[in-house]
Amino acid sequence: AQVTISHGNSRVSASLPSGESIEILLYGATVLSWKDASGDEKLWLSEGAKLDGTKAVRGGIPLVFPVFGTAPDHEATSKLPQHGFARNSRWEFLGKSTSESSSNSVKLDFGLSSENLDEAARQLWPYKFGLLYSVTLDRESLKTALVITNEGDVPFEFQTLLHTYFRIKDISSVQIAGLEDSPYVDKVDAAKAKTQSSDPVAFSGETDRVYTPAKGPSHPVVISEGGAAKFSIVRDNLDDVVVWNPWIDKAAGMGDFEPKDGWKNMVCAEAGAVSSWQKLEKGDAFEGAQTIYLK
Ligand code: BG6
Repeated sequence: AQVTISHGNSRVSASLPSGESIEILLYGATVLSWKDASGDEKLWLSEGAKLDGTKAVRGGIPLVFPVFGTAPDHEATSKLPQHGFARNSRWEFLGKSTSESSSNSVKLDFGLSSENLDEAARQLWPYKFGLLYSVTLDRESLKTALVITNEGDVPFEFQTLLHTYFRIKDISSVQIAGLEDSPYVDKVDAAKAKTQSSDPVAFSGETDRVYTPAKGPSHPVVISEGGAAKFSIVRDNLDDVVVWNPWIDKAAGMGDFEPKDGWKNMVCAEAGAVSSWQKLEKGDAFEGAQTIYLK
């Protein structure tokens, strides 16, 4: 048995002979689906998500670049829409790699460069860049890795984030470990700087926090439900982790968030470099990645 890949006009999907599968929308190179061998979906995707290229996808793994949120005080990115243009641009499918010795893994590559951007986006952010995004499915894990290259003559600054929406059964029994004793910015409380207690993060209301985990990227951030670990996220060169759940009112206010009580079934744990700016000199490259292990 072999890895199966299908490549349509707007999507690419791949499945392993053992049954695991992924699906990626070329718009935003957004991972829409990640299923285990039994067909169980691991990502949350809104039933109201726009998948036709008119709006960033609500769910899956949208890619944030070159700005996290908006940055009115950062001149170079101040005109960009929330979370930048990568999630609103059509990417190119660059092909697959599979290992010949094993059919237990497949890697799909996607590219976006300044040349592919529409004129409007190019006007808002005039730098020359290349993005290479690799999505690797294994039997037990999903890895998403982004390489950002400065292909122009002047340096630029950026932020980036892998905005993963995890599917869970009930947010009230979810905890996130690995963020203990870590500094964070609380976006729900006037962007105050706070420090996590020595307990895991639990949810009882709207949550929107930018953590810089004290133990560093290689120490896993673990999402558990009812005391059992479900996902373990290991980061590479991405110092921050955003934790987000919109809860009742924010979900109600998002036109593409369906069903309206879907906030109970999702939690975002987003690996990124967002608490400061990364500077890329001419010709330099930055690589950041996350690997999500199923537990
Ligand atoms: C999170 C931010 O990463 O993304 C939140 O921390 C934001 O503040 C959320 O609300 C969703 O953003 P958007 O643009 O997809 O609605």
